[in-house]
Amino acid sequence: MNKERTMTILITGATGFIGKYLCLTLLQQGHDVQALTRSESSLTQLTGFLQQQGAAMERFAALEGDLEKPDLGLVTLPNGIECIVHLAARFAWNLPEHEARHTNVTGSLRVAELARHLNCRLVFITGFMLANEAHLSRQGIQMSHPEQTDWSQVYRRAGGYEASKLESAFRLREFVARHGLNAVEVQPATVAGHGSTGDLDPAQPLYSLLDNLYHGRLAMIPGSPEHWLPLIPVDSLAQLIAAACTATHVPDTLLALDQNTPNLAGLLQAAAQLLGKPGPRRHLPIGVMKALLAIPGLPGLLKVAPESLAFIQTCRFDTSRTEQFLAQQNVQLPPFAQYLEASCRHYCQRLGVGGGAVTIGA
Ligand SMILES: NC(=O)c1ccc[n+]([C@@H]2O[C@H](COP(=O)([O-])OP(=O)(O)OC[C@H]3O[C@@H](n4cnc5c(N)ncnc54)[C@H](OP(=O)(O)O)[C@@H]3O)[C@@H](O)[C@H]2O)c1
Repeated sequence: MNKERTMTILITGATGFIGKYLCLTLLQQGHDVQALTRSESSLTQLTGFLQQQGAAMERFAALEGDLEKPDLGLVTLPNGIECIVHLAARFAWNLPEHEARHTNVTGSLRVAELARHLNCRLVFITGFMLANEAHLSRQGIQMSHPEQTDWSQVYRRAGGYEASKLESAFRLREFVARHGLNAVEVQPATVAGHGSTGDLDPAQPLYSLLDNLYHGRLAMIPGSPEHWLPLIPVDSLAQLIAAACTATHVPDTLLALDQNTPNLAGLLQAAAQLLGKPGPRRHLPIGVMKALLAIPGLPGLLKVAPESLAFIQTCRFDTSRTEQFLAQQNVQLPPFAQYLEASCRHYCQRLGVGGGAVTIGA
């Protein structure tokens, strides 16, 4: 652990949902934060949030930059950076391959190049599907020789967003190995709301799930009783990423997911109860659901992107290394029931409606 020393940390994607909580956590820990941002309005929202939280704004600075520009569009190289956290990505469904690649793959390599140039640690954020080797093989990734992967085929199978995240992870790993970079890969599960306030951005996948439940668009449970959608509350994830920046010894990969997330049926039942709505009880195989969603207009009507179903799987993961690291860093995940309740409460407040106000297990 190395929490007494003040560090200077550059964050890409600082204006995003995870990024804003990471900025807050690092500032609260006394570090200096430089946010790479491309949009004035996003920056205004971020600084408004940080000010509202009472963050030490004298330790915060913004740097204009864009993943899509050569050299990230940086006019001068930032000074004194000891760690870069790479969160920025185009995070959307139905992204065309060239757009997803341009931002999420080429842009990520530009960030890695900057870390190499500055000779600093790179903490890059991928996703928990990178820990599911059977899934990666099904997508067409050559696990023993990733460089031989036909990436266009992966884009056709997985869709632009997920394929570009997978491709960027493999390309970043290769870059890190080739240049001997000090790097940590963080693989988050689907992000849930803040453990106490429940703050959850409407663009987040879990928000869409709650919205579909609330509006009765989820009549059946996708998959079998073995299927699950593991979660991680945003503030715990921010603490984990902050520790990956500041700790002296960090495992090279940190899988960030709450093992206590129940199966999808249990998650939906609990969320429906909290939202005061009837939850779905019958299962629908994922294959059948995908086939239904191939019917033109249905994804829009049901507000379900076929790509999003890929995150609902039966695979269970070994998180022992992350748990050991979290324990060393004194970071504790809140109970699942607590952050799900907070997320649902926040969703209802946003909508201006009352939820079921039921505590899970009560
Ligand atoms: N949320 C999840 O459930 C989840 C799960 C696993 C992994 N992840 C990964 O975690 C990371 C952050 O996720 P998030 O939920 O915080 O996403 P988010 O809220 O959509 O934020 C995305 C961030 O990327 C920035 N960005 C997009 N294009 C950019 C560009 N061309 N140049 C510079 N910045 C750009 C955005 O800046 P603007 O404000 O300018 O748009 C924003 O700050 C992503 O890499 C995502 O793949 C997320």
